[in-house]
Amino acid sequence: MIIALDGPAASGKGTLARRLAQHFGLPHLDTGLLYRATARALMEAGERLDDERRAVEAARGLALMDFDEEQLRGREMGEAASVVAAIPAVRAALFDMQRSFASRPEGAVLDGRDIGTVICPDAKVKIFVTASPETRANRRALELARRGEKVNYADVLEDIRKRDERDSHRSSAPLLAAKDAVMLDTSALDIEGAFAAALAIVMGKKP
Ligand code: CDP
Repeated sequence: MIIALDGPAASGKGTLARRLAQHFGLPHLDTGLLYRATARALMEAGERLDDERRAVEAARGLALMDFDEEQLRGREMGEAASVVAAIPAVRAALFDMQRSFASRPEGAVLDGRDIGTVICPDAKVKIFVTASPETRANRRALELARRGEKVNYADVLEDIRKRDERDSHRSSAPLLAAKDAVMLDTSALDIEGAFAAALAIVMGKKP
């Protein structure tokens, strides 16, 4: 069974994906990390984020890299990831890796922006996770503060709005709910509530 979770920044899709993967004993791929790692490789090499040739090289080189989540989760890296993610050739360079992860015989859980639309259009279960920008900014500000980053709510809300705008309006694989995705608004739900709702969606759709 493939479970595809998509949605905007800090909507809760990552937490839900981890919990669902654990529950069903499936492997999980957080595809945002691929874009974050690509951005980080470029920044470390002193290259521009919009240098297409370098960005594609960085994306292709990822298999050799260590995915240090701790370094990739920062605020700056989320913004940088969204810049490289808008380059179609970068998305193409990361396509096979995601597809082969999803082709494991037991299935997989993937979360991102284009899983239900581009990477796994045949996924049995597609959930589009949303929450209001204010709720998402609250969650992200808390998460960043827990990481020890100095942030204020207004800046994080601004980041979120900017990223929503860029991710939704790019030409290649924009953030979009698949036609057959089930919408899950987590604005009024805590983690347990959101997990219960996601599980109900999966159980209802499981063949
Ligand atoms: O956790 P959050 O939603 O803030 O970020 P993320 O899922 O790690 O994604 C970071 C950025 O990567 C997003 O803003 C997107 O621009 C991009 N991304 C994408 O384009 N396609 C994906 N499948 C996953 C992430």
